[in-house]
Amino acid sequence: MLNLGVNIDHAATLREVRHGIEPEPAFAALIAQTAGADSIVVHLREDRRHIKERDLCILKEIVKVKLNLEMSIAEEIVTIACKVKPDQATLVPEKRQELTTEGGLDVVSNFKKIKQAADKLGKSGIAVSLFIDPDKKQIDAARKLGIRMIELHTGRYADARNKKEQDKYFKELETAVKYARDRGLHVFAGHGLNYYNVPRVAKIKGIEELNIGYSIVCRAVLVGLERAVRQMKALIR
Ligand code: PXP
Repeated sequence: MLNLGVNIDHAATLREVRHGIEPEPAFAALIAQTAGADSIVVHLREDRRHIKERDLCILKEIVKVKLNLEMSIAEEIVTIACKVKPDQATLVPEKRQELTTEGGLDVVSNFKKIKQAADKLGKSGIAVSLFIDPDKKQIDAARKLGIRMIELHTGRYADARNKKEQDKYFKELETAVKYARDRGLHVFAGHGLNYYNVPRVAKIKGIEELNIGYSIVCRAVLVGLERAVRQMKALIR
């Protein structure tokens, strides 16, 4: 059965637009959990542009499904993760200027640094997953590192500009899933998935979990708008 991890970073993005107190990401997490999310995902970025340490601590207290922390391998973040102890840490590359995580981790080139962080997290009892591109070399490097879970970056598939390109990147993804599964890895996938491009990915055999954030929060704004307006109108009348 395919699991859904719901990334609630962008509930916090909306809060940070006003540096205010709503929407409360913890509230979003509870709603997602009640609606059937199999895990709650947040990215504590080094620049704290959306999720804060305080959010992570509250989520650790209240989330009953798996709490998956996306994080870079920066020492400060690793220390916070070891202290808070989410169920899972997904190691991602992080650049200050990017709007979102642009590519997978380069495990081949950063083997030692990633291993150090993964070992430290593992010793704290946190399951470690690596967010990598659908690339055999990266999958081999993740295995060599002793990792048992990977998340394949679906961005190239999701951002394809036409059917031909999408087919090409879909094939790349499918091949990578099989390659990793044949080598005994647990395979998750995510990034850029939405209500239009997800059905095809959901049919790939061997993927255990899809992690989706932005499109769910976007949909929530629209499907919740009518109710929100009715509530405000009732209040002022
Ligand atoms: N998986 C990982 C590792 C990510 O970094 C992100 C983005 O935070 C996602 C999944 C979700 O991507 P999106 O917000 O585009 O659905």
